[in-house]
Amino acid sequence: MEVGFLGLGIMGKAMSLNLLRHGFKVTVWNRSPSKCDELVEYGASTAESPAAVVKKCKYTFAMLSNPVAALSVVFDKDGVLEQISDGKGYIDMSTVDADTSSKISEAISSKGGYFLEAPVSGSKKPAEDGQLVILAAGEKTLYDEVIPAFDVLGKKSFFLGQVGNGAKMKLVVNMIMGSMMNAFSEGLVLAERSGLEPGNLLDVLELGAIANPMFKLKGPSMIQSNYSPAFPLKHQQKDMRLALALADEHAVSMPVAAAANEAFKKARSVGLGDLDFSAVHEIFKVQEPPS
Ligand SMILES: NC(=O)c1ccc[n+]([C@@H]2O[C@H](COP(=O)([O-])OP(=O)(O)OC[C@H]3O[C@@H](n4cnc5c(N)ncnc54)[C@H](OP(=O)(O)O)[C@@H]3O)[C@@H](O)[C@H]2O)c1
Repeated sequence: MEVGFLGLGIMGKAMSLNLLRHGFKVTVWNRSPSKCDELVEYGASTAESPAAVVKKCKYTFAMLSNPVAALSVVFDKDGVLEQISDGKGYIDMSTVDADTSSKISEAISSKGGYFLEAPVSGSKKPAEDGQLVILAAGEKTLYDEVIPAFDVLGKKSFFLGQVGNGAKMKLVVNMIMGSMMNAFSEGLVLAERSGLEPGNLLDVLELGAIANPMFKLKGPSMIQSNYSPAFPLKHQQKDMRLALALADEHAVSMPVAAAANEAFKKARSVGLGDLDFSAVHEIFKVQEPPS
């Protein structure tokens, strides 16, 4: 299967490498061209624009940072829209809001192309290991056709119906995750400030009803203030913002998520946006102990 891949950030690089390792022919493009070099070493071809990738490939995947990037790659000069045509498929795996996805879907369909949104649950390591959870929605025919690629990228794919449902599912999941990360950070700080050993807290959590892979993975590095980015904090804050906008639309009150969003915003404002989202921990650590 010959596929295109647009966007070689943390996730896009791991995903396109996985496709190459499993025998797919992959043509890549990235806004900053130097990121294509490593993929070329593993056998990828490059193309000079999103349009050139779509011209060459029947199926093109994208993994871009946010709604602005997702729209730009489709609608701008030399974008996807210039070459999408009858029978070609575009699969956007970026985390965006349902409106962004719908705009892209309508534009692709108006040119005879097929569209699928397919955001993913899972971070850098699951992307490297082909263990993502894929939340697809849109053209069922296209979903069926690209299952061989989804089988390489993920451990499970869901087809959720009409465009927008994948985006919404992803935002709900990440809203819960961001709120959990805040509660976890507060707990680590409270444990330490009240004279407990944070490592012991991790052991206790691990054995109880709220044990989960995120606490297990992130806890030890958070205790060491190591925030090497797997999921950049700026993207987590974008997801909180988009989830809160979805809640506004449906008049759903989300005080916990709103507070978590404020903490992520504060973390961004002090320059932590490019670190892992667990760096929100630093915001709680800087509170002055009472004199
Ligand atoms: N990392 C995770 O754990 C994770 C997990 C699930 C979902 N996601 C979602 O997956 C997407 C990618 O995440 P990531 O962690 O791979 O992010 P990343 O490392 O920051 O990569 C972002 C990618 O988007 C490109 N980009 C940004 N703005 C652009 C623009 N205006 N035009 C064209 N390309 C643009 C970047 O190109 P340059 O290289 O030129 O900057 C890069 O290829 C995001 O929507 C994120 O929310 C991430």
